[in-house]
Amino acid sequence: MADQPRIILISRDAALVESFSAACATRGVAADCFGSLKEAWEHWSKPETALLGVVADASGLTEEENKSILPLHQLPESPRLIRLAAPAADGASGGALENARWPLSPDFLQRLGREAAIPHVFLVDSTLFSTGFMQAALNQEGWEAVQLESTIGIAETLRTATAWEEAEEKTSLLGKLFSQGKERRGERRKGRAVVALWKGSSLEAEAAARLLRGSLPEVRVYLVTMHSPLREAEQGLRLGKSAELPRELADKAILLLEGVPVEDGASKWRILLVENFKVALVALTQSLMAQGYEIAATMQSDEALETARRERFDLAVVGAAVAFAKQTSIELAQKLRETDPDMRLILMVDRYPLQQALQGVSKVVEVGLDDCLLKPVEPSRLQFSVERALERRRLLLENARLIRELKVSNDRLERLTGFQSKFFATVAHDVKNPLTAVRGYAELLSMKITEPELVKCVDHIMSSSKTLEALVSDLVDFAAIESGKLRVELGPCDLLQVVGDVRSRIEVAAKKRRIQFEVRVPPSLARIKGDPLRLGQVIQNLCTNAVQYTPEGGSVSLSVENDPEKITVSVRDTGIGIAKEDLPRVFQRFFQTEAAQKMRRAGFGLGLKIAQEIVHAHGGEIAVESELGKGSRFYFTIPVPSSPPAALAGPP
Ligand SMILES: Nc1ncnc2c1ncn2[C@@H]1O[C@H](COP(=O)(O)OP(=O)(O)OP(=O)(O)O)[C@@H](O)[C@H]1O
Ligand SMILES: [Mg+2]
Repeated sequence: MADQPRIILISRDAALVESFSAACATRGVAADCFGSLKEAWEHWSKPETALLGVVADASGLTEEENKSILPLHQLPESPRLIRLAAPAADGASGGALENARWPLSPDFLQRLGREAAIPHVFLVDSTLFSTGFMQAALNQEGWEAVQLESTIGIAETLRTATAWEEAEEKTSLLGKLFSQGKERRGERRKGRAVVALWKGSSLEAEAAARLLRGSLPEVRVYLVTMHSPLREAEQGLRLGKSAELPRELADKAILLLEGVPVEDGASKWRILLVENFKVALVALTQSLMAQGYEIAATMQSDEALETARRERFDLAVVGAAVAFAKQTSIELAQKLRETDPDMRLILMVDRYPLQQALQGVSKVVEVGLDDCLLKPVEPSRLQFSVERALERRRLLLENARLIRELKVSNDRLERLTGFQSKFFATVAHDVKNPLTAVRGYAELLSMKITEPELVKCVDHIMSSSKTLEALVSDLVDFAAIESGKLRVELGPCDLLQVVGDVRSRIEVAAKKRRIQFEVRVPPSLARIKGDPLRLGQVIQNLCTNAVQYTPEGGSVSLSVENDPEKITVSVRDTGIGIAKEDLPRVFQRFFQTEAAQKMRRAGFGLGLKIAQEIVHAHGGEIAVESELGKGSRFYFTIPVPSSPPAALAGPP
């Protein structure tokens, strides 16, 4: 049986604890909630295989706790950690580093306008860097921006006035591209900025910003990302780091720790775009972004591969160079496929050399590509392919989600069944034994006492313990049926003998209820292969029902008919009968009609289910005919084995 996965939550907020635990429960995950880091640490430091990770409500922890949690997380074998933080607003200030999300909001742009006198540094991811989007946006606002491939030399660039003139030369091409031909030369620039490529984490960016502010105190440093906080957290976990999530996304932490692809409301399809020709890269990125996709764009295939290993993408569009490239686009596509077998792939190949192009097309089937387009690719043509590929991706994800849900309910069921069998085993051993003792002692007592009052008491003890024993036996049989372990031992069996044994017991019960009971059997019966005890149980169950569900003064008959291929045992009664719509359900476990419940003693509604199971184990059938208010006939058949000599003799 699978261990139930667990998540440790450290929080002092009762509402969060409650909603988090509930969210965990729906996913079949156990939430262990602690009010302090110390308590939680005692648990997470113990090796536990099913611990998915730790979620810490950082905004509610003491400063001391927040300080100690990271080093604890860095210890070897420590579980994954997600810290829940109060949401960081766009452009929120505080530390040396501020955050901004791409596309830049109008508020943010306005703020830039107001702060144009201050030198700015924008740390941007490779997509914003290689497409030149960030720089173009700044240019459009009338800012001068220098692009730097690293954070080295930022302070110097900002200090040297000459750098701006050079920058203007360098960036005029891009500037023109994005300002739709507007000539900005000669216009008075509003502000100055450096746009630097940033490949590190946000924590590392914070450190870099601090360093920068050390040498240039007035500078403002922004980390501009296209990622949602959820993506960032997902990425952090992938890299084995601790992740940070806004508090309101606490329930998403569960999915992240489960390793389930998470879709947040705002989340878009993520596309990795590799294209070695910059103009095409910019045009395709722009057109896909306009469609609402989240794009990571790069011109370098090495970088594409590295990014794909670090982040999760729904689709990769690969248009890397073929000639003179370290790896062809086909090779790159193959490597990308290895990083994630479910990622969709579209290839864009050069028309020439023709052979390469043909090879690309043929790979559509081989590598499982979604499409292969010939360059130059029209943005609208790519959009069409992308939509189709993502539809396939959506179906795949939906499939995976359904499978996961099925697994959660399976695990839950498995745990429940495990509990059930344990429970029944306990009942069998721990309840049955003392019950037998009670009955034994009561029998002993009944032999010794003569006082009528006491004799009556002891009789009650005996009959009640018998009822209890029967109930417990039914439960044990039922548990055996459920786990496929009901013991039925087939051997030579004399059914007349079995009927005779049951008859005497039923006669007593029938007499008590003033019910006429008759038995009709042929003088002899064919020998069958059967389990006498189990067949006796079936006949007794049917007869007990007949007697129980027949009003006083009625009659019950048990008859046996002998055919060459089978023996049929029928129990007829003139009882309450069963409504037509209930007939198919009487053999289901725990089913009892309302009318029956009113006129019976204790019972679980398992008698017929057990009877059916036993008859099936004998290769026979069991069935019922009944009319409400008039009576019923329950009957079952047991096959008669054809004796080998007779079979061999053939027809006379
Ligand atoms: N001879 C009968 N006449 C009318 N209803 C019957 C008859 N036999 C069975 N039933 C209906 O079928 C239901 C299921 O029968 P079953 O023997 O499985 O359970 P039960 O008698 O209720 O409880 P127990 O587990 O003690 O046998 C009964 O509750 C009753 O509603
Ligand atoms: Mg019954």
